[in-house]
Amino acid sequence: MNAKKLSQGTLDDVPRADSMTEEQEDIRQETRKVLRRFSRQRGNLVPILQKVQGRLGYIPREAMVEVAEFLRIPEMDVYSVVTFYNQFRLNPPGKHPVRVCLGTACHMKGGYIVLDAWKRRLSINQGETTPDREFDLDTVACVGCCAMAPVTVVDDKVEAKTSPTRVDGILLSYQIEKDKEGEETQ
Ligand code: FES
Repeated sequence: MNAKKLSQGTLDDVPRADSMTEEQEDIRQETRKVLRRFSRQRGNLVPILQKVQGRLGYIPREAMVEVAEFLRIPEMDVYSVVTFYNQFRLNPPGKHPVRVCLGTACHMKGGYIVLDAWKRRLSINQGETTPDREFDLDTVACVGCCAMAPVTVVDDKVEAKTSPTRVDGILLSYQIEKDKEGEETQ
């Protein structure tokens, strides 16, 4: 299991679900469905979080509160575990996952420049999702296409020799596709 550096933040740093209480209520209900399958033992924390993420795609704040209440442990303990392990996401997944490769070959060929281009174009940081939930951005360590470095994987498609200009082109093609879909549904 991959672990990441223990976060310096607090539960207040976790984005809340949209102010729509309907969404928050859905999250609570879905989390409770997961909790029904577990006993109230602290050792169940990670398996519970895995199931919650399997159901919701991430671990929202409301789910952490539910889990903490269920296990009778401080909310901060749940937050610490969520931020410690790489497997857990604090943000909802985007419709299109963008994964910038920072393996050795991609790193040598400017992977960080590509990552920076994605961050700027999407106005989000690594590990975040755009407010419209179209894209989420993260990094990977080698996807086995080193000859095509630097590589970005968007959805399941490997984009070879990605440059900042290519990032613009990829985003433009998604925008054109989205516009088309919008026209067809009118
Ligand atoms: S290092 Fe990027 S594909 Fe191998």
